[in-house]
Amino acid sequence: MTSVSLHGAEGRPAEDGRSPDDASRLTALLRVTPVVPVVVIEDASRAVPVARALVAGGLPIVEITLRTSTAIEAIAAVAADVPEAHVGAGTVLSQEQARTAVSAGARFIVSPGLDEGVVSVAGVLSVPVMPGVTTPSEVQRAWNLGLRVLKYFPASLAGGIPMLKALGSVFRDVKFVPTGGISAGNLRDYLEVPSVTACGGSWLTPSGAIAGGDYAGITRLAAEAVAIAGRAEGQPASSANRTGG
Ligand code: 3PG
Repeated sequence: MTSVSLHGAEGRPAEDGRSPDDASRLTALLRVTPVVPVVVIEDASRAVPVARALVAGGLPIVEITLRTSTAIEAIAAVAADVPEAHVGAGTVLSQEQARTAVSAGARFIVSPGLDEGVVSVAGVLSVPVMPGVTTPSEVQRAWNLGLRVLKYFPASLAGGIPMLKALGSVFRDVKFVPTGGISAGNLRDYLEVPSVTACGGSWLTPSGAIAGGDYAGITRLAAEAVAIAGRAEGQPASSANRTGG
């Protein structure tokens, strides 16, 4: 078992006991559910059925991005109506957005880049935070803020698997969640990188499926990802396929 956590507040590593239970729960969740659906919600009424569809497909986690005016309402709806889905806020750019998202019910915070202010607010609110990084300098800054699980974004453009291997060989106690350009086609390759604890992406919840109410389609995509992740974890393909249905 690793001792990584999504954050240690105010510059201290997570191992010092300051890390909230929710951080460990999220870390544990990423270990068994190593795919984080990144969702853009235009119509807040779609959020609950989308979250339920992901849960039905085996992914009890959803990152709702603050890219739309309905995102906070969507987070609140999922937090209230789908407690089995671990709902978080993505594309969190400011301290104020972090506070608003957590007030609405977000249980984790994801940012595209590394911002000390957002990390600090998350620490004060005892909510795990996963900022985006692409370079050794950013990883080192994050490491010195006590962070041990980082989003690697945009993964496919920033160097992909070779870069993740290089970063992982240096930052031995850091786990990465590559996001950006991940799909069913390359998920397995990313998950097989030792420093990768999970992958994120929007391919599980296509805008057309959300707008068209194709929740069964979202469940199928989630189940497919779970099956691929199962194979990446070393399960026999036959058993993984049964999971995927
Ligand atoms: C994110 O916010 O993590 C990205 O938008 C996800 O990238 P993708 O759309 O390429 O999956």
